[in-house]
Amino acid sequence: MSAKVLTVASTKGGAGKTTIVMALAGTLAAEGLRVAVVDADPNRAYASWAEAAYEGAPVAVRAEADEARLAEAIDELAPAADLVLVDTAGFGNRAALLAVAAADAVLIPCTPSRADVEQAAKTLQLVEGTARAARRAIPARVVPSRLKHATAVSRHAVGELDAAALPRTDAGIGDRVAFAEMTFSGRVPAAGDAGQEIAALVAELRGLGWLPAAARAKATIARG
Ligand SMILES: Nc1ncnc2c1ncn2[C@@H]1O[C@H](COP(=O)(O)OP(=O)(O)OP(=O)(O)O)[C@@H](O)[C@H]1O
Ligand SMILES: [Mg+2]
Repeated sequence: MSAKVLTVASTKGGAGKTTIVMALAGTLAAEGLRVAVVDADPNRAYASWAEAAYEGAPVAVRAEADEARLAEAIDELAPAADLVLVDTAGFGNRAALLAVAAADAVLIPCTPSRADVEQAAKTLQLVEGTARAARRAIPARVVPSRLKHATAVSRHAVGELDAAALPRTDAGIGDRVAFAEMTFSGRVPAAGDAGQEIAALVAELRGLGWLPAAARAKATIARG
């Protein structure tokens, strides 16, 4: 079976795309899945972190910001991977549109601010437009990101997503020191609140069929 391709995109910069890619890639690689990341951001935030800081189970990494070569990079990694995650720059960058076109599903991180909620709606429209152009469905969900859990502003932002009927994950990512520390330590949080949030997101994405089955379950299926 070919790899699933999951693209993380947002028209808004700093929404938490790379953070979510780091956390998902590290967590799923630790499970024993074969994970590849295509870094389509010309700033190479993921790729340079992977080279200089990442400590965890191996993840195959390709930096490819040239939109003409992006689909090829995904195709090259896919045969040896269970999952290809694509990290993108903002939508000013055409590579992000191609990464959406190549995706089985798209995650759109959204921080609790009015501007971000508006941009999440715009990103969803761009995904829908890309899906229409490609004449196939490309499912997408907003992932509430950098939530300050106890605050009214976070609840309000999530309420705004729901009021605008934007499809979102129930699992959200908190604004947590552990995620900021990960960028220096190279260690993806596996425990504590941050670890639980990532585990909940993984479980929800699996429920949607957007992630491959857990490695252990796969081994059982293969033996049976
Ligand atoms: N959940 C979080 N908790 C704490 N810090 C976070 C969290 N998410 C993101 N950050 C921090 O916010 C900054 C921007 O996050 P990140 O790089 O993931 O966003 P991005 O959407 O990839 O940005 P860009 O559009 O520039 O690629 C980084 O310094 C990151 O460490
Ligand atoms: Mg980024």
